[in-house]
Amino acid sequence: MIALFKRWFGRASPTLAEASARDAPAIAKLHGQSFQRGWSDGEVEALLRDRTVLGHRALAGGRLAGFIMSRIAAGEAEILSIAVGHAYQGRGLARQMLDLHLRRLAGLGVEAVFLEVGEDNEPAKKLYARAGFQEVARRANYYPAPGGKHRAALVFRRNLV
Ligand SMILES: CC(C)(COP(=O)(O)OP(=O)(O)OC[C@H]1O[C@@H](n2cnc3c(N)ncnc32)[C@H](O)[C@@H]1OP(=O)(O)O)[C@@H](O)C(=O)NCCC(=O)NCCS
Repeated sequence: MIALFKRWFGRASPTLAEASARDAPAIAKLHGQSFQRGWSDGEVEALLRDRTVLGHRALAGGRLAGFIMSRIAAGEAEILSIAVGHAYQGRGLARQMLDLHLRRLAGLGVEAVFLEVGEDNEPAKKLYARAGFQEVARRANYYPAPGGKHRAALVFRRNLV
């Protein structure tokens, strides 16, 4: 019963903070559950130790509910990955994380943010459109898809200044 309450209240209000290398195993696990090509713990840890990479994570009841990571170079940033655990999806968590992340990037002097998204990824496309991103390019046959097929990637951009 206590565990149920903890889980319910934990889900009710995830707390957002900058991610550190200690979050790597949990982020790698959620990344693996969210994307076809997973990242190893070591890959995520290396990214989070990289000074050009910014990460945020959301914790709910001590568990990782979501994360976002981007790489900054020459006044621009590329969102490398964003994911929210199934149990927390559809409740505005990605929007909250993206908003915090973009504000932090702006504070670091980033002027434009880019990302790639599968053209059939409706939740992600809605998330980015709502956050003011605009489609600037389409890369045909970009992501491998089941059955030896490929699907296109859309490139989105948002200016922060
Ligand atoms: C994309 C993702 C991060 C969104 O996380 P989320 O916390 O559920 O998103 P939010 O609750 O903030 O909602 C964002 C938008 O997506 C919409 N959305 C959420 N789940 C949806 C679904 N299953 N189908 C269609 N739209 C959906 C929401 O309605 C919202 O749009 P709105 O503001 O116009 O209503 C999540 O679905 C996920 O982790 N997907 C797997 C990883 C992935 O594809 N990442 C993006 C790679 S580019």
